[in-house]
Amino acid sequence: MHAPKILVAYYSRTGCTRTVAERLQRELNCDLEEIIDLRPRTGPIGYVRSGLEALLRRIPNIVEPRKSPADYDLVVVATPEWAGTLSSPARSYLTRNRDRFHRLAFVVTHASPSPGRALEEMGHVAGTPPVAMLDLDDWRVQRNDVQPEIAQFARQISAVLDRLPPEQLPLRPVIPPEPVHPQHA
Ligand SMILES: Cc1cc2nc3c(=O)[nH]c(=O)nc-3n(C[C@H](O)[C@H](O)[C@H](O)COP(=O)(O)O)c2cc1C
Repeated sequence: MHAPKILVAYYSRTGCTRTVAERLQRELNCDLEEIIDLRPRTGPIGYVRSGLEALLRRIPNIVEPRKSPADYDLVVVATPEWAGTLSSPARSYLTRNRDRFHRLAFVVTHASPSPGRALEEMGHVAGTPPVAMLDLDDWRVQRNDVQPEIAQFARQISAVLDRLPPEQLPLRPVIPPEPVHPQHA
């Protein structure tokens, strides 16, 4: 029987989303891909630039991903929330791979008690509604307090893939996407 292929792709500026992505990867026993910026975002200037890029819905250049989402039955995209929406590097990843996703799930980490519109907007950017979504407070991630939610989210994803009829696994082919020309912030 074909075992579903899952990829966790994440962007993280300060490590919180990375922690969640790595734990999820262990739960799902799947592949991991870091979304990497071409320009650094450290310090106050990096913070302000990041917030502006998110507000303006910019699509900054990112390093070419090593793994193609088209090779996976499901891709989990994890991002921090910036200015009430998804981070700009995660927006770049979703935009450039829009036509390569078979199924998606989303994770957002955030500092305020409730999430903004990042999860909703990720679905619009990708053009595909997610099969599962998770949002986590950064302070709870730092306190190492989120393992039950991560495990439950992994079970939810596995259950969706387990319910698929065999003809939908392995993957159906996807149409090659048009190249995306990134804007610079
Ligand atoms: C530029 C910027 C804007 C942010 N805007 C928000 C926001 O609107 N709402 C929120 O809850 N957290 C916001 N945060 C906090 C991050 O979402 C949160 O700390 C996240 O867990 C950081 O993830 P990371 O360590 O993987 O980069 C913002 C952080 C940055 C750097």
